[in-house]
Amino acid sequence: MARASAKVILFGEHAVVHGRVAVAAALDRGAKASASFDAQRSVLELEPWGRVSYADDADDEVGRAYAAVLEAAGARRAVRTQASVDVPGGAGLGCSAAIGVAVVRALAEAAGEALDDDEVCRRATAWERVFHGNPSGVDVAIAARGGVLAFKRGEPPRPLHPPFDVPIAVAFTGECSSTKSMVEHVARQLERRPEVVGRSLDGIDVLATKGAAAIEAGMWHEVGRLMDLNHALLAGMMLSTEKLEQACNLARQAGATGAKLTGAGGGGCAIALAPMGAAAILQAWRGVGFDCFEARIGPRVVILGGGEAR
Ligand code: MEV
Repeated sequence: MARASAKVILFGEHAVVHGRVAVAAALDRGAKASASFDAQRSVLELEPWGRVSYADDADDEVGRAYAAVLEAAGARRAVRTQASVDVPGGAGLGCSAAIGVAVVRALAEAAGEALDDDEVCRRATAWERVFHGNPSGVDVAIAARGGVLAFKRGEPPRPLHPPFDVPIAVAFTGECSSTKSMVEHVARQLERRPEVVGRSLDGIDVLATKGAAAIEAGMWHEVGRLMDLNHALLAGMMLSTEKLEQACNLARQAGATGAKLTGAGGGGCAIALAPMGAAAILQAWRGVGFDCFEARIGPRVVILGGGEAR
């Protein structure tokens, strides 16, 4: 069984599309997949949605993404892949990249091919492009590698090594958004007001760089403070929503050292850093009906291979 991690972005979503630094952390949940060459027609079966997509169905976006992966893998025979994922889609948790990476690995396993992480990411990027148009690559990088990474487009990802794992709380607002449209929304703003939006992206770059250093030093209060500032800059680009604001404010009141939207925004999830434990934050969120969970982030969080955290 092949696996890949879902993720949270601690710093730098959107800015990373425009060449700035991002910091992402794997969650100990994500996607798994297995493949076999026992098919007449290449098909991808996706749970929990009970979705069946054929690679030769040009009207089906998932089918086109599957075809793109098969082409990137140079697959010549029909192949049946079964995949499942345990994070919501369209919620900023890297659901699509995790499925893409798990599918790439499953196909390689079935073909008896050994792939390094760079090749996994290259093939999974073909999948991501179908959904996201212009992905920075951060989602597939963290899905493939796990742990915590500083990522800049066109450069090798840099693993970060905080001295210990920390709890993080994740709230799903129940509102889904399309990464592609949110990325286009920022690109339009950048085109219209290059100086103002460019300064925000530069500001996020500084926060992400400082955030990476604070993570490596285990300075979690500082990481949280920088996350709050990153959220404010994202909100200034109209990427937050009332529910995301509510989730971040409740988390801060309940003791989070920092909170922000994560992923594309416009809905999706908020995250709250909780080095002293996330129970009070989860209770506050549940009190107003948010679907939420606690996870740990750190260098050992990865769901590769046998699915055990390393
Ligand atoms: C989505 O998880 C992160 C974005 O920065 C898009 C990307 O990096 O491709 C919004």
